Parts: sequence; C-alpha cells; structure tokens
Amino acid sequence: MEKYVIHGGKPLHGQVDISGAKNAAVAVIPAAIMVRGVCRLENLPEISDTDKLLHILTYMGAQVRMINRTTVELDCTNVQMDTLPEEMWAMTRKIRASYYLIGAMLGRFGRARSTMPGGCNFGVRPIDQHIKGLTALGADVRMTGGFINATAKNGRLRGAMVYLDKVSVGATINIMIAAATAEGRTVIENVAREPHIVDLANFLNSMGADVRGAGTDVIKIRGVKTLHGGTYTLIPDQIEAGTYMAAVAAAGGAVKITNVIPKHLECISSKLREMDVEIEDGDDYVLVRRDGPLHQTNIKTKPYPGFPTDMQPQMTAVLCCAPGVSVVTEGVWNGGRFKYVAELKKMGASIEVDDQSAFVQGVDHLTGATVKACDLRAGAAMVVAGLAAEGVTKIEDVVYIERGYQDIVGKFRALGADIACVDEPDEPDAERSAGWVAG
Ligand code: EPZ
Repeated sequence: MEKYVIHGGKPLHGQVDISGAKNAAVAVIPAAIMVRGVCRLENLPEISDTDKLLHILTYMGAQVRMINRTTVELDCTNVQMDTLPEEMWAMTRKIRASYYLIGAMLGRFGRARSTMPGGCNFGVRPIDQHIKGLTALGADVRMTGGFINATAKNGRLRGAMVYLDKVSVGATINIMIAAATAEGRTVIENVAREPHIVDLANFLNSMGADVRGAGTDVIKIRGVKTLHGGTYTLIPDQIEAGTYMAAVAAAGGAVKITNVIPKHLECISSKLREMDVEIEDGDDYVLVRRDGPLHQTNIKTKPYPGFPTDMQPQMTAVLCCAPGVSVVTEGVWNGGRFKYVAELKKMGASIEVDDQSAFVQGVDHLTGATVKACDLRAGAAMVVAGLAAEGVTKIEDVVYIERGYQDIVGKFRALGADIACVDEPDEPDAERSAGWVAG
C-alpha cells in the first residue's frame, strides 16, 4: 500500500509552482460535452480526478488528445451518449464532480442518466439544490436506486429563474452548464462566488456562451444554440497554494509560491498574518516566511470570499503548535469535517471537538506517528503536520491526497522536505494507535 514517509522538523526553503485548479478542471471537463468542436484546455492539473473525467469522456466517444502533461484537446462533437454505461459507474461513484455530467448531457441532449456522485466523505452531501435548478429549467429529475435520471420536457431545457436555498458550488456549476444552451434567459440567485465558478463561466463564454455576473451572487445566462471550440487556460489552484502556505507556517522557512492569483488567497493570507506568518504579495506569486513562534487565532469557514472550508484541516494542523487556544469553526459542512482530528491527536495534538467547532490547545511540538488520510484535505493536513512534527510520520491512504494535489511529494522535496512515497504493508491497528516513535 502506498504511503508517505516524512522525517519532520525541517524548515522549507525555495520556490514551488502551483498547478491548475482542481475544482475548476472537474467542472470544465464535463462542460466540454456541450461544445461541438475542439476545446484546448491549458494549465490542467495532473491529478486522479481529472484523469478519471478524461477517461469517462473518452468512453462517451470524445476525442481526447494530451498535447503535453497539462494541456489537452477535447473534441466532443461526436459524443451521443446521454446514459453513462455500467463500465463507468465505478468511476462516477468515486468522484463528486461526476454529477456535472448530468448537467452537460441534459443541456446537450435533453436527457441524462448517471450514478449518484461520490467524493470526500465528511457528512451528508445532499443534491437537492441541483435538482431544484435542473427542474426549474424544465427537466423531470428522478433519483432511483443510486442513479439520477433527468429528461427535458419537449427535448430541450428552457431558461428560468432559480433561487438557491443554500449557497452551493456544485449546484451553481451544474445549473450554469445546463442553462448555457437552454432556450431563453436564466437567472440564478444566491449562487456560489468561488474562483472556480468564475473560471467555468469564462470557459463557457470563450466557447460562445453568454454568462454574466459570475463572482457575484447573481448569474444571468442567455441560452445559445450551440457552443463552438476554443482555447482556455485554467486558473491556478487556490487551495493547493493555501496548503503550501500552511506548510511553511507549520514547518517554518521561506518559500516563494508562484503561479497564483494573490486576490484568491486574501482570506488565507490575512489569517496567516494574524498568526505572525509573513506574507508578501507579488503579481503572480506570494512570499511566505515564518521563523518565529506562531500566534493563535480563530477561524470560521464560509463560502467565498470567506475563509475556505477546504483549508480548514490544514490550518488546524498549523494551529496545533500555536500557544494558547484557537477555535476553528466549520461553517459550510454539517457534521463539522473534523474526522482528521483523531489522526492529529495520535501526533500529540490537544484538540477537543464540540459540534461544529474544534478547540485547539497549542502544544510545544507534534511527534511523528502513523496516521491516515481520511479524505483529500484531511490528508493534506497530515502532510502539513508531518512536516512540522519531530520524528517520522507515515501517512496511509494517500490515494485521497493524489485526487487533488499534483506531485505533492516532488514539490515538497524540492523545498527541502524529507518526504518519500513508499510501498509497504499497512501496520496493524494496534501498533498504529501506539503512535510512531522516531527511530
Ligand atoms: C465543492 O463541493 C468542492 N468540490 C468541495 O471541495 C468544497 O468543500 C465545497 O464545494 C465548498 O466549497 C468540488 O468542487 C468538486 P457545495 P460541493 O454544494 O459542490 C450544502 C475539495 O476538497 N448543499 O458548495 O459538493 C452542502 O451539504 C472538495 O476540493 C445542499 O444542502 O459543495 C454543504 O453544506 C471537498 N444541497 C453546502 O451546501 C445541495 O444540493 C456547500 O456544498 C448542495 C449542497
């Protein structure tokens, strides 16, 4: 079983280049189904979630041509499939973004059938707002036996007014994709404003759509008959960049993080500054420096432009060694998204979780242990903690981490971290609970 082995306690130095945004890529690739022509996508992250989606599109009949490691040409002109075949179900059940295939197939063909989506397991993840939006566009949407079936009345979606009861990235994306070629005008209110929402809107518009207002809380779409091919470059990944910023805060050192949009990192930078981490913004980079003690702070996650929930585990890992008590409150996901706290406690962290908040009592240092990546961002938090900890940390189930981080081991090694990916059997649980004492 592949695991990461980290000999912690070494400050990080050097420069790291951020890859394309995972949550933009997993929206844009399914959206390409709507396009009759060649979509050239640049700055695509090399991660397992994009690999899976490209594989699914190939299976659906798209021409997929990798130009280089981060550039792909997709031609979905001849895609006719509005029902994902059984061979694809295992894959669509693994990734959250598979539900964007519903919006795309429905928008293109007037029909869609796929499995319920997968994704990180941190509590209930309903899709009622997706169904509300697609229904408003004139689709009959049914969920039966783990599948979603959608059919547009009269064969084509019609523009509509949609008010989202809850700010939802996924529902905003799904409705935007489906409405791009619906007949007439769609107005979606109370939408998500994340950078990847804006990126999808920019992609659709570069392919001939008419989407306005992305980044605000109201998106207006005039349906067009067809979308043509074109070239689009994805934005850099806000959360990957934030994860490297958190790693420098935890392990110490000085790192230049390049290929970022500092505006997207403002909430992360301001929190780290509260913790006495030095952040200097450049045009397309941030300089992060920490060589003194950390200061405690409190964090409450909110939809963008609030503090991102996908940075919550990583920041809790940093706060483990900030003197005093820090409170981390999860404001986006019910059930708190705190499963990783048990893994941090194996490393000596002092954290109590009460409902949606984690109370983090700073300790002098963390100690290496054998821990699990409970999900994508929880796994990233284990890397952050392992880099700061004294001794050796072994992280199991790293397949979760590789869903969303391109070459995380290589990038951290280039910053001087002693981290390697090894293939060895998992330890029996008993040893794991005893924690890992540095040899
Ligand atoms: C996206 O998930 C991201 N995933 C998540 O990132 C991220 O945590 C989340 O947005 C919030 O930013 C992808 O983009 C692939 P939501 P999504 O719909 O779309 C509730 C990562 O680490 N809700 O914005 O599933 C929901 O329960 C992943 O990259 C409904 O009630 O999230 C939650 O409380 C993990 N009904 C809140 O809204 C719905 O129909 C936000 O969910 C949809 C959502």
